[in-house]
Amino acid sequence: MNRDGEDFYYMHTLLEVVADDPETLEQRVTELERRCVAKELFAKRCDYKQEQAFLSMLPLLSIDPDIERKARRNVPTSGVAAAFPFASYELSDQGGIFLGLNMNNRSPAFLDPYDDYKYTNGNMWIGGSSGAGKTFTLNCLGGRLRQQGKRVIYIVPKKGHEFRPLCELMGGLYLRLSPSSEDCPNIMAIRRRSLDSYASLKNMEERRDSVLAEKISRLIIWYSLQKRDLSDVDKNHLDESLVKCYGHYGITADNATLTDENGRFKEMPILADWYSVLNENPGTKHLAVVLARYVTGSAAAMGRRNNIDLNNKYIVLDTSGMPDDLQLPGIFWATDVANDLIMNAGTELSALIADELWSLVGANSNPLAAGFVQEMVKTIRGLGGIAVTSTQGMQDLFGLDGGKYGKGILDSSRIKLIMQMEEQEARLIQNVLNLSDLEVRQITRLRRGEGLLCIGYNHVPIAFYATEREYNAITTSSTDLRVRRNGGDA
Ligand SMILES: Nc1ncnc2c1ncn2[C@@H]1O[C@H](COP(=O)(O)OP(=O)(O)OP(=O)(O)O)[C@@H](O)[C@H]1O
Ligand SMILES: [Mg+2]
Repeated sequence: MNRDGEDFYYMHTLLEVVADDPETLEQRVTELERRCVAKELFAKRCDYKQEQAFLSMLPLLSIDPDIERKARRNVPTSGVAAAFPFASYELSDQGGIFLGLNMNNRSPAFLDPYDDYKYTNGNMWIGGSSGAGKTFTLNCLGGRLRQQGKRVIYIVPKKGHEFRPLCELMGGLYLRLSPSSEDCPNIMAIRRRSLDSYASLKNMEERRDSVLAEKISRLIIWYSLQKRDLSDVDKNHLDESLVKCYGHYGITADNATLTDENGRFKEMPILADWYSVLNENPGTKHLAVVLARYVTGSAAAMGRRNNIDLNNKYIVLDTSGMPDDLQLPGIFWATDVANDLIMNAGTELSALIADELWSLVGANSNPLAAGFVQEMVKTIRGLGGIAVTSTQGMQDLFGLDGGKYGKGILDSSRIKLIMQMEEQEARLIQNVLNLSDLEVRQITRLRRGEGLLCIGYNHVPIAFYATEREYNAITTSSTDLRVRRNGGDA
């Protein structure tokens, strides 16, 4: 081996780490020297020639002749192999959104989940224990995707208020679905002109499958979430009553009847109309009782006709204000609205973001609602969109029907970000994500805002970074809030 080349080799590595703090630099140099010696490759300090060596390493195409002479050498493959541990995966998608810094080499990480040449699907799943930073990360991701022009829709079943400040900062629409709120988009409104969302993407003639029929089947699922053990006869009664109810507004199975002569949607029925139809027939009176809550009962505000404009490109659907017994129908209500918006998006790229996924598809959910959410996550890819979901409590996530729905969503999310969690929880997903024992231990030691990004077999630890503006809008830290209340003093 030509020992003259050693300075060059050393400088190369020195430059890689020069941005690090001196302690890390010292550690890495020592480690480098140890490895070099082990591979019979000697690294020597570049004393008194640092400046020339540094300038030679800059991409200026000008190498100091003395350094060049010393750097010339043949490199045996064993020497190159010695440098291997310092080569790490860089995540730098052109046109992607900024995530933070790669903790292995401090390179900025950019991710473009819409690049389907690179990612078989851009769906993303975030897991972590309470306080690990899931909501914070979702907020940042949504805000950054919106800044790139994407349409962003959130479904938030718990702590929806955490999404409000950024939503308002972005000029978005924050809708709180709760019995006391008037923010509920009409669940009976039909918002799609055709079921064939794929036709417009491929410039094909639209199929004429009835939008009304599909709406009716979804309304029956929504109804069944409030009345268990619905018999087949009752389902038929409901179906018939809905056909009649929409018929009063001139809407039939023919999609052309959905709109008026100007192409605008006709006035749509509200829950009170459905209630009246059920109530006027003695055979279906007992079914009307369930809807009474939305007509004359405590949730009457939810059933009222309103004029909410859903054209905003950043919408938060917060269902956390629903009482326990209305949680599931409330979530289904929000999912139904989100589904319509995404299916209508056409060629516009969209992102559906759902926090606290366990409450949608986990142990306390219901197979019908869980199946609907899972279907949505799967179909969104075909429309060029992505779904980003997050959850804590792996036990809960896999608690319904043997974990079928939780696993289904995990399988259809190519990109996974695992934030800090307890070892026991991490072991539950170790096999699904091909995590090594070392990585499981690494996950337990992550700090808030840090996560292991897994894309297939590439696993990169990332420290998520937020701008000051984002941080101030998103943070839920009680210390931050106390400081703010006290005008700067903790
Ligand atoms: N990347 C980050 N940079 C700076 N601070 C962060 C980051 N991520 C999280 N935090 C801080 O940690 C706090 C808690 O994070 P967050 O609310 O997102 O946790 P969570 O995982 O959603 O918890 P839970 O499951 O209880 O909802 C945030 O309010 C914020 O102050
Ligand atoms: Mg959270």
